[in-house]
Amino acid sequence: MGFNYKTTAFAASGLAQEAMKKPSLYTSYAIAFVLLAATMTALVFFVIYPNEFRLQSMVTSRCGSRPSSSSLSSFVEPVTPEPDFRLLIGILSLPDSYERRHLVRDVYALQPGVANARIDVRFVFCNLTKEEQRVLVAMEIMLYDDIIILDCAENMDNGKTYTYFSSLPKMLDGGGRPYDYVMKADDDTYFRLQLLAESLRKLPREDMYYGLITPCLNWRARDHYMSGMGYVLSWDLVEWIATAETPRNHQVGPEDKVMGTWLREARRGKNEINMEPVMYDYLEGEPRTCYRHELVPDTVGVHMLKNNWRWATALKYFNATVGLKPSNLYHMS
Ligand SMILES: *[C@@H]1O[C@H](CO)[C@@H](O)[C@H](O)[C@H]1NC(C)=O
Ligand SMILES: *[C@@H]1O[C@H](CO)[C@@H](O)[C@H](O)[C@H]1NC(C)=O
Repeated sequence: MGFNYKTTAFAASGLAQEAMKKPSLYTSYAIAFVLLAATMTALVFFVIYPNEFRLQSMVTSRCGSRPSSSSLSSFVEPVTPEPDFRLLIGILSLPDSYERRHLVRDVYALQPGVANARIDVRFVFCNLTKEEQRVLVAMEIMLYDDIIILDCAENMDNGKTYTYFSSLPKMLDGGGRPYDYVMKADDDTYFRLQLLAESLRKLPREDMYYGLITPCLNWRARDHYMSGMGYVLSWDLVEWIATAETPRNHQVGPEDKVMGTWLREARRGKNEINMEPVMYDYLEGEPRTCYRHELVPDTVGVHMLKNNWRWATALKYFNATVGLKPSNLYHMS
């Protein structure tokens, strides 16, 4: 069927080109025929393959790149309701961290799509520096299209987060507000998208600063800020970072703490949302932070998944793989 569809479309467009060369009565017949053929094919395709359309829109909502305007998705638009909100999750990564990126990508791909929300997960790093990266990272982009490369030299506490937030308005410039919220996350944090979305859905869309209050969950600490495990800013704050002087002039230091300083000095981010105790550090091992505890059922995000064992423990607890189908081809024992 897919093959027939392509053949028809090809033949029809050939006909239209032919007709355009010789304007005549034939032209209007040809155009009518083309329109009819196109409508019929679309109709047949939609009736026989409704699932393909649903799949496409699901994929768009989960891992589409910036608001796309492909003909297929615009065809689908009337059926797909506008999302309640759009969230970009930028996971800071390093070009060479192929294995971790692969794991984290799988973890998010395996989570079911969130209804009425658009959540885009992207990996963010600075300039490539090796020839092999130019091939291996290109391959990832061709397959997954989920990578953002900023104009910077790789660093952790030397302005990468500033570059990330301040580059977005230009990178995503398509007119209007591309996202309602933007998150910066670490690649050792596991977010459960369904619960994250439920918590965000009812929150303010302006001047919002969401995460886990640090140090030690102390709101009253004058210099408190949201832990770098993953915090969310509303889009107006992202735009502010891109243009304001305070952030531009003060980029060096622990990135999460620096973010808190910018906002406090500018009296911004007044809608502070603290997600303790459903955002926390993994209990075992180091470091012994004061916001680490056992895994809990309503977890939004758990941090310090520094190795595969910890990832596996968390994923098992959250039933990530219970859907595995039995097969003669493998066994898990
Ligand atoms: C990053 O790469 C771009 C494009 O090649 C280049 O113009 C820019 O100078 C580089 N930036 C740094 C900090 O190396
Ligand atoms: C995982 O599945 C078990 C068995 O169905 C259930 O009791 C448990 O609550 C689930 N865990 C989470 C975190 O949802």
